[in-house]
Amino acid sequence: MKKAVIYISVIAFALTSCSGDGKKSESAKAEKVTKEEWKVASSMFGVLPKTAPNPENPLNDTKIELGKLLYFDTRLSNEGNISCNSCHDLATFGVDNKTTSPGDTGEFGERNSPTVYNAALQFTQFWDGRAKDVEEQAIGPILNPIEHAMPHEKAVIDRLQEVAEYAKLFKKAFPDQKNPVTYQNVGNAIGAFERTLLFPSRFDRFLAQESNAYLLSAKEAQGLRDYQEAGCVTCHSGNMFGGNMYQKFGLYGDYWNLTGSKKHDEGRKDVTGKEADKYLFKVPTLRNVTKTAPYFHDGSVAKLEDAVKIMAKLQSNKDITDEQASNITAFLGTLTSKIPAEITKAPVLP
Ligand code: HEC
Ligand code: HEC
Repeated sequence: MKKAVIYISVIAFALTSCSGDGKKSESAKAEKVTKEEWKVASSMFGVLPKTAPNPENPLNDTKIELGKLLYFDTRLSNEGNISCNSCHDLATFGVDNKTTSPGDTGEFGERNSPTVYNAALQFTQFWDGRAKDVEEQAIGPILNPIEHAMPHEKAVIDRLQEVAEYAKLFKKAFPDQKNPVTYQNVGNAIGAFERTLLFPSRFDRFLAQESNAYLLSAKEAQGLRDYQEAGCVTCHSGNMFGGNMYQKFGLYGDYWNLTGSKKHDEGRKDVTGKEADKYLFKVPTLRNVTKTAPYFHDGSVAKLEDAVKIMAKLQSNKDITDEQASNITAFLGTLTSKIPAEITKAPVLP
């Protein structure tokens, strides 16, 4: 008897989900990834590398430990109100989930805080690529008047030198240098720590071996197909699903008409002064994207499904359905890193 009820409800479900428009019945057919599709996906994307080395800043354990201390230390802000972790909270996927972030004085910046997880692997840092790597990036916010707001490099060094333990750690982290407590080395240490913030996702396990093709649900598999069909792979590909090129935001229209952005941020043009770079932004990584709302360089869009639809329209000139946006969002959920709890804990100066 019980069995019959189940059969009937399965049939009823199949009938209802096949009725309606053509698009609905398409998704009812959604199937898990085939081996053929796995092959295509593994040629298009890539497993997260285990390391992100920088030959100019070789890692050692003390440098990484020092970098983590500095990352969490409010001494690096003028009034002592903020640290890197305030805007890039390691416990919330390396972001603060705010549209834009308040700095040391409470004043807000104009851009949304991107995640620091896996960031070291990108070809450049910041939305407009104005820092070449995480080492160079890290020393930017400390002197930025609406971020850490320190007046000058010497003020940072003076503060760190007051802490005997820091002097010891700098010496050990940079053993060949006579005076290792330098502003540059603050960036090197924080950068070294950031180079360890690489955490793979279920999609990496999926890609790693053909026998893992079953690891995506039918909906996620359909999302992977929809992602390819909507042309997202043109820009968000490789092992970071982005982070490897600049592109114009708004290839098929002004972005602010769809995002509602108040400011018409010109992106990379602000850095180079070139007209050709107007509205160019770094294609962001989509790793952890389901956790890093709100979206776009100014945090103008709250929901990922909406950001996905806007992307399809502005970048590929496609009107995708709610269902396709929902499938793509489900697929993007497989890119969430598994983050060990200990990495998110604030360290204590020894
Ligand atoms: C007040 C908030 C705030 C603080 C504090 C802050 N950041 Fe940021 N961070 C941002 C914003 C906003 C951006 C994007 C700015 C842009 O692209 O113009 C950013 C960008 C970055 C990026 C680039 C990521 C990418 O995908 O391009 C990294 C890495 C980073 N910050 C690390 C740090 C580190 C390390 C510190 C501490 C020294 C720090 N941040 C302090 C808000 C903050
Ligand atoms: C022609 C290149 C291009 C294509 C195609 C493209 N994107 Fe983007 N994508 C970008 C750029 C550039 C940005 C950064 C825009 C900004 O905020 O300034 C971006 C931003 C995003 C964001 C916001 C991420 C964040 O952290 O805020 C998401 C989500 C996204 N894209 C998903 C997609 C999806 C899904 C597709 C396919 C429907 C797609 N993109 C197609 C270039 C592209």
